[in-house]
Amino acid sequence: MTITLSQTPPATIACNALLVAVMPKGRGVEIAGHGLSPAQAKKVTDALSALGATGKSGEITKLGGVAGFRAPVIVAVGLGEHKAEFDLEAIRRANGNAIRALSGSKKVAILAAPEPALLEAIATGARLAAYAFTKFKSKAAPNSTPPATIILIVPGPISAAQKRIVEEINIVADAVDLTRDLVNTPPNALPPIALAAAAKKAVAGLPVTVTTWDVRALKRDGCGGILGVGQGSANPPRLVKMVYAPRGAKAHLAIVGKGITFDTGGISIKPASKMDEMKGDMAGAASVISAVQAIAALGLKVKVTGWVPTAENMPSGTAQRPGDVITMYNGMTVEVLNTDAEGRLVLGDALAMAAKDKPTLIIDVATLTGAQRIALGTRTAGVMSNDDDARAQVCAAAEAGGEAMWPMPLPEDLLATLDSATADIANIGDGFGGMLSAGVFLNQFIPDGQPWVHLDIAGPAFNDKTPYGYTPKGGTGAAVRTFVQVAKRLAAG
Ligand code: BES
Ligand code: MN
Ligand code: ZN
Repeated sequence: MTITLSQTPPATIACNALLVAVMPKGRGVEIAGHGLSPAQAKKVTDALSALGATGKSGEITKLGGVAGFRAPVIVAVGLGEHKAEFDLEAIRRANGNAIRALSGSKKVAILAAPEPALLEAIATGARLAAYAFTKFKSKAAPNSTPPATIILIVPGPISAAQKRIVEEINIVADAVDLTRDLVNTPPNALPPIALAAAAKKAVAGLPVTVTTWDVRALKRDGCGGILGVGQGSANPPRLVKMVYAPRGAKAHLAIVGKGITFDTGGISIKPASKMDEMKGDMAGAASVISAVQAIAALGLKVKVTGWVPTAENMPSGTAQRPGDVITMYNGMTVEVLNTDAEGRLVLGDALAMAAKDKPTLIIDVATLTGAQRIALGTRTAGVMSNDDDARAQVCAAAEAGGEAMWPMPLPEDLLATLDSATADIANIGDGFGGMLSAGVFLNQFIPDGQPWVHLDIAGPAFNDKTPYGYTPKGGTGAAVRTFVQVAKRLAAG
C-alpha cells in the first residue's frame, strides 16, 4: 500500500471515504485544516453537530451522502481541544483509528494539513494503520481489508518538502510492515535459515552487503552463545551481518537484534499458555533487518552495520542443559543456569563481534525479559546504556519517531548477582530487576569506552490485545522508527 499526495478538490475527489479532522467548537465542532469552502465546511459541521459529534480526541463520526461531495462517506476524526502545540503522536493515533474504522474501503482520501510536521503525523498514522497479515488465510475475510490507496489532499501547490515527507513515510512504513510480517510469520515458516534469507531479500537492490555465518563458520569463530542456544534444534542457527556504507558517511551505527525464531525456553521449558507468542522472539532481529533496509533506501549518510544472531531455542537430546558452561566470542565463559535466558547468549556473541569495528554507537534491540513488561508495561520499551548521553539521545530519537521508550539504569551492584561458582559469569541473576540484570549481563560483552545502548522491547514488540491507534494486533514493528531517527541524527553530524 502506498500513500500519495493530490491537489484534487475534496468535494470532487473519487474515493470511497473522505477523512476530515475536527475539533470542539461551542456546542459542536469545527473543521481543522484547509481546502473546503466555508459553505462546504458548514454542511459537514452541521451534519456532525446534529449527530452529536464533539470533536474530542479519538472520536470517529461517519456521515453518509453529504450533498455536494462525491465521496459517499465522510469520516470526522476528533483531535480534541486546539492547543498551542499539536501533540503529533495523538494526531498519528487519531488518523490510525480512522483508517482502521474504514477497513473494507478501497480508496480513502484525507483532507490533510500542509505543514510538514502535521502532514508527517497524519500520513504516518494513516499509513501504519493500513496493515493486515493475511498470508496464511486461505480466503480473505470481508471488511477486514485495509485501504489499498490513501490520498492526502493538500491545499495549494505540492512542495518538494511535502513530496519528500510522503516518500520517506512510504519507505519507513514498508520497513515497519516488514518487521510486523516477520514477527507474525508462524515459527515453522521462519526458522533461522529463513530469517537469514529474509535479511538478504529485504535489501535486494540496495547498496547493502550481506554475510551469513553457518554452523561451521560460527564454530570457527568461537560463537559459543549462538551455537549453545541453537544446538537443541533441528533448525541450525545463523549469524547475519548487513553492511550499508555510503560514501560520505558521518558516523558508524551498529545495530544488533535478537533473532530467536521460537523460544520454548529450552530444557528450562516455558509453560504452555501463550507460548505461541514466542514466535515473536525474533522481533529485535526483524527491526534490525528493516532498519537497514529503510536507512539504505533513504540514502542516509551514515554507515550502518546490522547484526542478526538467530537460533531456535528447543528442548531435545542435543539441547544445552542448565549447568552447561559455554565460551563466548570474546572468550568469556558463561554458566547457563537457565536455558530460557537465551537471548543474552546470542546477543553476547554478536555484541562482542560488532564492537570489533569500534562503531560510533552500538544499539541492541531484543524481546529480552518478561521483567521489562512488569516494570514498564506492554507498550513502553526500556532503554539502558553505559553512556548517559547516548541513552538520552536514543530516548529523544524514539520520542521524535513516535515510539514509547524510557530510560532505565544499569546498577553496578547487579553484576554480583550474576556470579557463577564455575564460570566467569552466570546467565541469570537473583530474579530482582530482571530487565536490568539482563542489561548488566550484555554490558560484559562491550569493551570499555564503546558507547552502547540496549533496548528491551519484550512488551512493545507484540500486541496480544486489540488494535489501538495505528498499532495492529500481533507484531507492531517496534524500534524501526527509532533506528531511522537515530541514523538521521548521526547523519546530520
Ligand atoms: N523471550 C523471553 C522474554 C519475553 C517474555 C519476551 C515474554 C516477550 C514476552 C526471554 O528469552 C526469556 O525467557 N526471559 C526470561 C529470563 C529469565 C529466565 C531470567 C524471563 O524473562 O522470564
Ligand atoms: Mn527465553
Ligand atoms: Zn527469548
